[in-house]
Amino acid sequence: MSIVNLDALQVNFAGKKAVSAASFTVEAGETFSLIGASGCGKSTILRVLAGIQREWQGRVDLFGSAITPGKRFSGELRRNVQMVFQDPYASLHPNHTLWRTLAEPLKIHGIGDILQRVNTALEQVGLPADAAQRYPHQLSGGQRQRVAIARALLLRPQLLLLDEPTSALDMSVQAEILNLLNRLKQEHGMTYLLVSHDADVIAHMSDRAAFMAEGVIQRYFDREALVQGEHRMS
Ligand SMILES: Nc1ncnc2c1ncn2[C@@H]1O[C@H](COP(=O)(O)OP(=O)(O)O)[C@@H](O)[C@H]1O
Ligand SMILES: [Mg+2]
Repeated sequence: MSIVNLDALQVNFAGKKAVSAASFTVEAGETFSLIGASGCGKSTILRVLAGIQREWQGRVDLFGSAITPGKRFSGELRRNVQMVFQDPYASLHPNHTLWRTLAEPLKIHGIGDILQRVNTALEQVGLPADAAQRYPHQLSGGQRQRVAIARALLLRPQLLLLDEPTSALDMSVQAEILNLLNRLKQEHGMTYLLVSHDADVIAHMSDRAAFMAEGVIQRYFDREALVQGEHRMS
């Protein structure tokens, strides 16, 4: 079963096409990536798949079932798709301790064992348990992105949407976070849809990729093409 199946997805903002007829499939356990210049529509596709962007046309299947435009995600679907954003500072509430940030999604979904789950999530991303009492401004950029990843993992999603997850970080920290993501994917059997404009990140992470320009997918790359660096020409 495919985890994601997009067929002729189109998204318009005020009559302007942000995404035109985008089609691709992501199989279970894969990392599929979207490459392309700023403004080409990558984040918009992720936002549709996260249920944040609800106005769209075409066909979108998640976990083998069609999703409906205009409809909020709920229940299992909402748990099963999580997103990590580019800027961990903006995506964490500045006045909430990490404890609150991590406990809240569990409460919302009526999940018990909160203390245990939060501690496990912190440990999985390499943060000490006492970090729970800290605020985002007391953390480095890399630590903040670890928290954002921990928050996404708490609900044990099948699909993780990663929108430029390391582009706000220093090179050395970037590598740590990418390796962490690869390890977690293995351990939890997740599927990744990754957005990056960095050809090295794409080559390091992806099984397959698609290159976008101006809302249109121009080319697809398999693992062999990525190893050969064909995506670097685009
Ligand atoms: N909420 C929005 N309202 C209006 N235009 C938007 C909105 N979100 C994105 N866009 C426009 O849609 C296009 C694609 O944006 P985006 O998906 O964010 O690109 P990327 O992630 O590839 O940089 C851009 O022209 C952007 O300005
Ligand atoms: Mg973007």
